[in-house]
Amino acid sequence: MPNICVRGGAELRGRVAVSGAKNAVLPILAAALMAQGGTTTLESVPRLVDVLTMIEVLEHLGVRVSWQDDVLEMDSSALTAWEAPYHLVSKMRASVLIMGPLLGRLGRVRVSLPGGCAIGARPLDLHLKGFNLLGAEIIFGHGYIEATARHLVGNTIYLDFPSVGATENIMMAACFAQGLTTIQNAAEEPEIVDLACFINGMGGKVEGAGTDTIAVHGRRPLLGVNYRVIPDRIEAGTYMIAAAITGGDLIVDNVIPEHVISLTAKLREAGVTVHSLNDGVRVIGNGTIEPVDIKTLPYPGFPTDMQPQMMALLTRARGTSMITETVFENRFMHVPELRRMNASIRTDGRSAVVSGVRSLSGAPVTASDLRAGAALILAGLVAEGVTEVRGVGHVERGYVGIVPKLRSVGADIWID
Ligand code: EPZ
Repeated sequence: MPNICVRGGAELRGRVAVSGAKNAVLPILAAALMAQGGTTTLESVPRLVDVLTMIEVLEHLGVRVSWQDDVLEMDSSALTAWEAPYHLVSKMRASVLIMGPLLGRLGRVRVSLPGGCAIGARPLDLHLKGFNLLGAEIIFGHGYIEATARHLVGNTIYLDFPSVGATENIMMAACFAQGLTTIQNAAEEPEIVDLACFINGMGGKVEGAGTDTIAVHGRRPLLGVNYRVIPDRIEAGTYMIAAAITGGDLIVDNVIPEHVISLTAKLREAGVTVHSLNDGVRVIGNGTIEPVDIKTLPYPGFPTDMQPQMMALLTRARGTSMITETVFENRFMHVPELRRMNASIRTDGRSAVVSGVRSLSGAPVTASDLRAGAALILAGLVAEGVTEVRGVGHVERGYVGIVPKLRSVGADIWID
């Protein structure tokens, strides 16, 4: 697997545009399975490995897909299967998002149990609790989960944790349930709102998305629809931190400023200038970073998907910062790699104490997951010498063209 190499020292200047949101388009692609007629056209679809994997899953199920530039066309009028095979689910756990649509539309679905991943066990208990409360029977066996239901009936479902995936899967299954389904303690992420807007565009009736209580009116006919996916707030945040860590001046285009409020607040606390623009943000670093404390929380709290990137920034702060990771139980895999670059970080369970150092040094490092890879690239942008980030495959799962985008604003970065 090739490496991403970065020689530190450049202050990034110019404009970089954010692509469509990975974590919005994946559930929307699953929801397109619910269309029993008509064509779905999705715009602003990021050309990412995870999107290609989800398309493979859909084609395996009988969906006809064509992709031109960032426009995807799908026809899911004739589904021919109800199972997501191991080799696809093991590549991407978001494949489990086909469960709600297929359980609803076909009355049955079978998916390989997704493995854990670097950041945690990531069980599916809340997804299955919801399906069960809607009337489905769940069977485990041979590494697979099978859910069946002659018919689904609306119910009230309380989520013990505001799980993004469980909220999405239950919302989609509930579209086929008789009557009203209420999801309590639902996730409030912008990607949940985007999914609800897509479903309502298909003819569904989902209310309250973006709050902790979502109402789904079931059994409405759902047809293909034209839809544009929201911009990727995590990609945007990554480039915002790239400007801050290099002391540069970047305009990040195609950003919805209210989707990055928590990061904006924390960057300002760290002494970074952030201007909200109509369709983007401008971030101006000034060469010094003040220490700040970060606690990851479900939206609108500070996003866990920005924790590794923020840690990279805080390794260069003028003091000590505390980072608490409350969402995933093992999301500090980037810490030993940052230490290899001279960062001073102590972890204790879900807390990390980051003591700023005067300089980082380039080194060969390994990305354990998508966001850890991004954090190591950010650290490489300011490290002395060259940093070789191994595991570029992780990074390409979630960042469209991160190397050319960073090169276009002055980074000395290449693939080797
Ligand atoms: C989504 O994952 C995102 N992925 C993740 O982004 C993101 O980190 C996460 O939400 C939290 O914001 C996609 O949208 C494709 P969760 P998801 O269910 O849905 C526990 C990235 O880098 N949990 O909200 O899997 C779980 O173990 C990725 O783009 C249960 O206990 O996240 C975790 O500790 C990484 N039981 C917490 O909830 C369940 O049934 C949050 O998980 C489900 C989840």
